[in-house]
Amino acid sequence: MHVLLLGSGGREHALAWKLAASPLLTKLYAAPGNPGIAEEAELADLKLADHAAIAAFCKANRIELVVVGPEAPLVAGLVDDLESAGIKAFGPKAAAARLEGSKSFTKRLAAANNIPTARFTEFSDAAAAKAHVRRHGAPIVVKADGLHAGKGVVVAMTPDEAFAGIDLAFEMTGAAKAPVVLEEFLTGEEASLFFLVDGENVLPLAGAQDHKRAFDGDQGPNTGGMGAYSPAPVLTPEIERRTLEEIVRPTARALVRAGTPYRGVLYAGLMITAEGPKLIEYNVRFGDPECQVLMPRLKDDLLTLMLATVDGTLAKVSARWLSDAAIAVVLATKGYPGAYATGSEIKGLERASEVEGVKIFHAGTRREGARLLASGGRVLDVTATGKNIAEARARAYRAIDLIDWPEGFYRRDIAWRALASTRHGRA
Ligand code: AMP
Ligand code: GLY
Repeated sequence: MHVLLLGSGGREHALAWKLAASPLLTKLYAAPGNPGIAEEAELADLKLADHAAIAAFCKANRIELVVVGPEAPLVAGLVDDLESAGIKAFGPKAAAARLEGSKSFTKRLAAANNIPTARFTEFSDAAAAKAHVRRHGAPIVVKADGLHAGKGVVVAMTPDEAFAGIDLAFEMTGAAKAPVVLEEFLTGEEASLFFLVDGENVLPLAGAQDHKRAFDGDQGPNTGGMGAYSPAPVLTPEIERRTLEEIVRPTARALVRAGTPYRGVLYAGLMITAEGPKLIEYNVRFGDPECQVLMPRLKDDLLTLMLATVDGTLAKVSARWLSDAAIAVVLATKGYPGAYATGSEIKGLERASEVEGVKIFHAGTRREGARLLASGGRVLDVTATGKNIAEARARAYRAIDLIDWPEGFYRRDIAWRALASTRHGRA
């Protein structure tokens, strides 16, 4: 089977690596790809926004499945356009991708279906939003509708922070006149659970926790994610069951009833509160770097699971997981998530890759002759498996110590929560 994988980050490198191991695969293409993905797939020169060119490429190369990695093409209707051209694609159509594309859509769906989530109010007027903050006080969470690459949310600890967040949110959504959501501040531990959904059927995958802040001790600005691990001790079997029954199944059913069934991987971002799991957000794709810790733990064939999702036969397959733990530590260019320089050379990856259990995924690299250069904010994901989190983590950091890249930085404390809870006997 010929497969085309779309995307160019560490998530897509992990997907490429797992797809390449499938007994069903005869040829893997990827676009735009990166030097790591190029080790697993033949790269094609395609722009994700050019749906017609992607469809033409699929016809010319007898592609039987397109796997869409990132959210933007899903929200933009790439899967709708491919299906109209008779091409199978893994990922939701635009109407169902609103679960990530619109906070307001998801909050309304949750409210209408009794799905546990933070209480919320929508505003299309900044003055009214500020009056709400004056009445209810802080902490409070301000969310701008639409896709903002993780920058649309302000967790305001004071009313002044909320006022500034409201102004910012209205600036971001202004042109679209989309609403701003103010919601209750939830306390608890954050974690993510992943599911395959084929319309009505939901197949739970595994869980993970990531680290959104740039620096050790969860300090510094928010990023796309500086590291992740799986499994997450906070996601007990009971929490997983409640998330499935109280949150994800009602969502899948509601979308089927609305005539916009969800097909693809669904990422439930959760707060594990004293009352149980509450939905913070949905993403309509695998997490990055969460995908990098899920793929090494997946025992079954990813391509089989993706085909079952697209064909509506998820009820007939299962997903089994290694009991081993996996961790991913992100190496980023100094300055990220703010301004940073590109083009610095990275050395030592071959030696680092030889550490037992280690696999290095490329996120933002390019090749220039024999040299490997940094080309983005998040550059490499050093992933390791081990019999438990402590062993996986020791291996990942041993590998990082062998990488020679003075312009990079990383967190030294990935998985601190899991290790702390293990010490307290939770895992
Ligand atoms: P979102 O883009 O909706 O996932 O929000 C980004 C981050 O803001 C989340 O990962 C949480 O850390 C935080 N956050 C969002 N909503 C809430 C909430 N209701 N209470 C506390 N923290 C929140
Ligand atoms: N690591 C968070 C995300 O993929 O949204």
